[in-house]
Amino acid sequence: MCGIVGYIGQNNAIPVVIEGLQRLEYRGYDSCGIALLNVTGINLEKVTGKVNKLQGALAQQQTSSPVAIGHTRWATHGPPTVDNAHPHVSQDGKVALVHNGIIENYKILRDELENSGYEFSSDTDTEVVVALISQAYHGNLESAVREALSHVIGAYGLAIIHADEPEKIVCTRKGAPLIMAVGENEYFVASDVAAILKYSKDVIYLDNEEIGVLTPDGIKTYSSDENQIAKKIHKITFNLEEVEKGGFEHFMLKEIFSQPQTIHDAMRGRLLPEEGNAHLGGLNHMIGSILHADQRYFTACGTSWHAALIGEMMFEQFARLPSEVEYASEFRYREPLVDTKSIVFAISQSGETADTLAAIQEAKNRDATVLGICNVVGSSIARETEAGVYIHAGPEIGVASTKAFTSQVTVLSLLTLKLARLMGMSDADGLEIAQAMQRLPEDVEWLLKQADQIAEIAKLYADASNFLYLGRGVNFPVALEGALKLKEISYIHAEGYPAAEMKHGPIALIDRSMPIVAIAPQDKTYDKIISNIEEVKARHGRVIALATQGDTRIKDVADHVLYVPPALSFTAPILNVIPLQLLSYYIAVERGCNVDQPRNLAKSVTVE
Ligand code: G6P
Repeated sequence: MCGIVGYIGQNNAIPVVIEGLQRLEYRGYDSCGIALLNVTGINLEKVTGKVNKLQGALAQQQTSSPVAIGHTRWATHGPPTVDNAHPHVSQDGKVALVHNGIIENYKILRDELENSGYEFSSDTDTEVVVALISQAYHGNLESAVREALSHVIGAYGLAIIHADEPEKIVCTRKGAPLIMAVGENEYFVASDVAAILKYSKDVIYLDNEEIGVLTPDGIKTYSSDENQIAKKIHKITFNLEEVEKGGFEHFMLKEIFSQPQTIHDAMRGRLLPEEGNAHLGGLNHMIGSILHADQRYFTACGTSWHAALIGEMMFEQFARLPSEVEYASEFRYREPLVDTKSIVFAISQSGETADTLAAIQEAKNRDATVLGICNVVGSSIARETEAGVYIHAGPEIGVASTKAFTSQVTVLSLLTLKLARLMGMSDADGLEIAQAMQRLPEDVEWLLKQADQIAEIAKLYADASNFLYLGRGVNFPVALEGALKLKEISYIHAEGYPAAEMKHGPIALIDRSMPIVAIAPQDKTYDKIISNIEEVKARHGRVIALATQGDTRIKDVADHVLYVPPALSFTAPILNVIPLQLLSYYIAVERGCNVDQPRNLAKSVTVE
């Protein structure tokens, strides 16, 4: 949600922290700030808006510092103002901290602190933590942090400095991501590896309630019961280029165009085209439990929830395994019917989504086996689940998820294939599916060549206020995903519907000003969708159709046709979503929207 970066070492901390914040802006970008620490005390700079503005303000000061903590904010408590921006500083000016997460009992704590005479200067929940640490401080910052947090209920990733200990950053986390990294005589703390990748690939993952202490001499980690613990250093495997735009105008476009590669990476070593089967090392020992479970649930949020819907449909259609999907935020509160004989798949790109983590906790409380399908290695969800599969899509920076979605669906397809073969799918069917999957990267490559045509169509529809997306079967979640992409980045209201449901309501909205995107592959519902398109045309609606390459009939009914290579229903969702991603992208660009950082959204939502 918000981004945190901290530096301590021999160099000037400011450019490191500023650059780190710029790399984290995709996580939150309404205001930002930095606290510098040196022997003269804490020096604070905060602005509303983007990190560039903060950089400008610091350049005027011409200061430097060997220690700094910085933050880029996505507002939860209090509007994006300078006062509410982080870092927050204690009343005596000695403690400064940056926070990601939510302090749930902040109101009670704030009332108590105000009654005891503490004066707050912001509307944030965070400021109570600064006040508590300040009051608990008796010469050792980590002890004060431990004592302060014993009063706090909520989620946090925190980096804290104290003017009386100018060579120290203390950090801790609970339910929000935070990593530490080791450089050459310099040490880092960040909410996301991308922030510090330029300087270090040696990362330490903090577990919940552990405390990290960074000094110019190194990093020490303590458990919640104050014992020093040895932590493993993990090598990050991706490179700086993966968190840079690499010549593309936006990260989202780069990520859309990387899909031939990312889909290939998700299948590498897992798809067995010669055998018509798949192998998923991380789930091998769980396959029996998945097959014999009493209940199989998928839980996720946003785009990952759309991938979950596809997973559910594929499990049922091909592996004949009954499954259910539930929004993670709902799963937790609906007293789900899961127990020791249940399997719950948590799907998450970031591996940090608070609602998904809460759903996992709920499932675990009910003794279910929880498996993860995640992108970010070492993320909270990867660590909280019993076993799982990484989708290997590499860092996704554009707030609107694209390549992670296709990689999630690829992994779900592999898993379905594996299960379906065990449930009796024939060799011939397995081979046909596996070979279609193997062709996916080149089919996606072909689709990406249609980008210019899609950009031209986008120009004609960029002034629409509403869009309707229609699809059936596995393409219904694709319609939902197409609509979500458009809403997220262009702020056009869009809805996805099962095509046949159109006549039960949405048809009332159709006129010339409401474009329809119809996913109309030549499958068993083709004739029905053509009829739906006719119904739209009869009401003067304009139709952009996704059709199977070679389909000439559709040209007579649709205003525009975007062709997709022939696909099995197994591979159709991955192919059909690509033109929809491009359509949203070009419409958003046409409307002058900030594609990579759409208003009000955040890449990783670490609050419930
Ligand atoms: C946010 C993002 C979406 C994402 C959703 C779930 O809403 O803006 O793009 O799909 O969170 O995120 P996850 O990381 O759990 O897949």
